[in-house]
Amino acid sequence: MSRDSADTGRSRRLRAALALSAVGLLAAVGTVVLPGTASAASTLGASAAERGGRYFGTAVAASRLNDSAYTTILNREFNQVTAENEMKIDATQPQQGQFTFGNADRIVQHARSRGMQVRGHTLAWHSQQPGWMQNMSGTALRNAMLNHVTQVATHFRGQIAWWDVVNEAFQDGSSGARRDSNLQRTGNDWIEAAFRAARQADPNAQLCYNDYNIDNWNDAKTQAVYRMVQDFKNRGVPIDCVGLQSHFTGGSNYPSNYRTTLSSFAALGVDVHITELDIRNAPTDAYRNVVNDCLAVARCKGITVWGIRDSDSWRSSESPLLFNGSGNKKPAYDAVLAALNNGNPGGNPTTPPPGGGGCTATITPGQVWGDRYNTSVTVSGASTWSVVVTITPPQKISGTWSGNPTWDSSGNVMTMRSNGSGNTFGFTTMMNGNSSARPQITSCTAG
Ligand code: XIL
Repeated sequence: MSRDSADTGRSRRLRAALALSAVGLLAAVGTVVLPGTASAASTLGASAAERGGRYFGTAVAASRLNDSAYTTILNREFNQVTAENEMKIDATQPQQGQFTFGNADRIVQHARSRGMQVRGHTLAWHSQQPGWMQNMSGTALRNAMLNHVTQVATHFRGQIAWWDVVNEAFQDGSSGARRDSNLQRTGNDWIEAAFRAARQADPNAQLCYNDYNIDNWNDAKTQAVYRMVQDFKNRGVPIDCVGLQSHFTGGSNYPSNYRTTLSSFAALGVDVHITELDIRNAPTDAYRNVVNDCLAVARCKGITVWGIRDSDSWRSSESPLLFNGSGNKKPAYDAVLAALNNGNPGGNPTTPPPGGGGCTATITPGQVWGDRYNTSVTVSGASTWSVVVTITPPQKISGTWSGNPTWDSSGNVMTMRSNGSGNTFGFTTMMNGNSSARPQITSCTAG
């Protein structure tokens, strides 16, 4: 046997052995990120999952689930789904008291049977109301809205990772005011009432406020939503996240301060989601910037594009998506995948929060078992520090080392303070059935 063929035979056996052990590992613990593995995932969802357990999702229309060209791309590329219209009020309660969930259930079933997470969209909104609701006002409307939130969130309980509880409640322009609507006219507290009803109906869903034109940090609308979320957090109104629709078309382009907007909302103690991304003519640079900005903010959990092919888009004439009408990848797709793959494994470069900062905390994934995994965090830029780490329930931190931990009331947010034992601390997290989520650094503060 020549030297060449001996080498080839050995490397073939090595590859076969590695492949076998990788299969065994995956079977045991689900998808894992192996520390130190240079990765170039080949799909959007897989790559996002490797960036700190993020998702890359799409809006889905039930009517397209019979189109195999569509479902082939959906099933290959995406690990999160939002129903484009099927969970809206006119779809789920077309007549008062009569609920129809068939199309929404089909989407949820398609997604969940393939391990994709589902975003519920949306429980309370001035638009796409059924006729009976459009004609209501006052206490009757308030009660009908709360009943709708309760019934729909109860129907989907346990299946929805995030609900857009309230959609588009603020005015555009310089006023910073609430949008006038029949819901707004029931009283300014309609939004918090909706969030409380949603929390009660599905305590495990993360509850989001979702809007468009809140991308530019300098806009009055962005500031107004920011102040509402700050007020909700201060008063204990149950809110977990803010969704930025990010329809970048025509008058509203990708703003250069987008990352500031994401990190400023995150610093309030909520997650941020990019929920309905589409960009007129799909420029590669704007798509790349959105991905890089999300990866730079630990609490940016993922990106959803508003449709798969340009021909599926609500703005199809603007060709704003990642696949063309024939289902082929566009240059914007390549830019997005490359940006995801180039992102920091673990996805955790810390953006210092306003007024804090002064150090950087970097996550290194540690050993993974079937039911738990270890994480270590190294701090640079300060010798005494406190680092805030957030985990995704039902995961729970079960043990820590080399620091002094304290916890918030939810048990999901740990503040680890230096205890003189160096600049690396660690912890063990129980997966409790969620093997894909990974801890996020929320802040690093020196001193
Ligand atoms: C759009 C859908 O894409 C269209 O099919 C429908 O005709 C109108 O609504 N903001 C939202 C989404 O929150 O629900 C909207 O979806 C787009 C703007």
